[in-house]
Amino acid sequence: MKSSPGSRPHGRRPSKARPPRPAARPSPTRGRTEPGRARVEPARRQTAPARGRSAPAAQPRSAGIAEIARGIAERVLYASLRGSPADRELSRILRTWRSLGPADLRFVSRLVFALFRWWGWTRPFRDKSLHRVLFLSYWLDGGPSHPALAAWGPAKELQPLPATATLDAKAEAFRRLTRERPSAASLVPEWFGGMTDGPVPELIQSFAGTPALWVRSRDEDAQPLLGELRAAGVESTPHPAVAQAIRVRSDASLYDLEAFQQGRFEVQDLASQVVGLVCAPAPGGRWWDACAGFGGKTLHLGSLMRGKGTVVATDLRGYKLEEVRRRARRAGLSNISAREWDGRGAPAKSGSFDGVLVDAPCSGTGTWRRNPDARWRTKPSDVDELAVIQAGLLRQCAAGVKPGGLLVYAVCSLLRKETTDIVDAFLSERRESFVLDPAPHPLSGEPTDGRVWVWPQSSEGDGMFVARMRRAATTAPTEPRA
Ligand SMILES: C[S@@+](CC[C@H](N)C(=O)[O-])C[C@H]1O[C@@H](n2cnc3c(N)ncnc32)[C@H](O)[C@@H]1O
Repeated sequence: MKSSPGSRPHGRRPSKARPPRPAARPSPTRGRTEPGRARVEPARRQTAPARGRSAPAAQPRSAGIAEIARGIAERVLYASLRGSPADRELSRILRTWRSLGPADLRFVSRLVFALFRWWGWTRPFRDKSLHRVLFLSYWLDGGPSHPALAAWGPAKELQPLPATATLDAKAEAFRRLTRERPSAASLVPEWFGGMTDGPVPELIQSFAGTPALWVRSRDEDAQPLLGELRAAGVESTPHPAVAQAIRVRSDASLYDLEAFQQGRFEVQDLASQVVGLVCAPAPGGRWWDACAGFGGKTLHLGSLMRGKGTVVATDLRGYKLEEVRRRARRAGLSNISAREWDGRGAPAKSGSFDGVLVDAPCSGTGTWRRNPDARWRTKPSDVDELAVIQAGLLRQCAAGVKPGGLLVYAVCSLLRKETTDIVDAFLSERRESFVLDPAPHPLSGEPTDGRVWVWPQSSEGDGMFVARMRRAATTAPTEPRA
């Protein structure tokens, strides 16, 4: 089995995969612990495989949770090694299991993501026993005790690792148990260190942690929402510098909360919220969110504009825009319009936007804590292909910016080729019309030259690179290069 058989860079789906249902969205905590993960809707789950599907987790109904979990993990592992994202595969499989309760769903979800998080250390055992791999992964991950573990390994002999155990301490405990000598570097692909300017040991340490779940308050005053979340039993902590960003912990579904149904908060990672804050659109302005996807950042822009002005949300994939419209309705934002865009031309007259956001498709290396499977699916050649797309999108979208307006480029990547290289090349090509626009870092308040990094090891969110550029006030509208 090869460890990197294919990839689905962030924002691109494999051509053969069916699109998720329009209702699909980054999921909070329905029946699971991992944020941004497999979404499970109990009403749609079945006790037996759905007709017309390949047999999901082909286990008898009577099988114990250990065997069910092993079967599911194995299916997700093989699908991921063939290039399919683990969260999508897991959601698809879990929808077919009605018999699993919330605790079992949380266990399976944690197990699957632990499997990928620790795959660099545990894969030598895969030929001998997948049980062993699962057991070691879950133990390294510090998952809560579960009866299934006893079926897979010497649970009685094992002390749970302390929640505060460092990566070094985990490596030492793993060595004592298995006699293997794991290195931190083997938790990421070999090419990673040479392609990032970030601090590699700290990044690897951060990827070994479990991700935090963040929501964004729609309203500027987040206090009433905080009170409601806490009253509903959701542990909630606002970010010290960004009052609307609230870190949450809950075993129950956030989607069932009245505040969510009323559109008063969205699930949105902290790093993603930074992008909107760097854009800082003025109420009444006219913005274009060129790669809107399911609209996470579109909604933030619309909300920062207090519902005034316009945000035109476009994406190559029309099905995603249905979700943007639905979310905008729920949030009560009438300043958002969504339309399909094939990447050519602009959705309106050239040079007519106060600001254009290009949240380009990327390798998603900044999300490796949240999407641990992506480490083993991404190849350097994917990054090269993506860099060509990113440079093209940036050039194309620049045409939409009016003189004196803003062009914001964002990627959840930590790789030079997708971040500083793209922006440096663009700015040297267009030095007469665009310059970096200095702005304070939204999380620290420190001044920046317009390039804003969010590093996962220091932010409790994903990694992100954002560049804020301003078009000269006097030049003629810039035409895209074909
Ligand atoms: C990083 S995602 C956007 C995420 C979104 N802004 C959000 O906040 O949820 C990148 C988006 O770019 C779109 N896209 C636009 N042009 C593309 C191209 N040429 N190739 C691949 N994806 C492209 C993808 O469909 C995808 O939705």
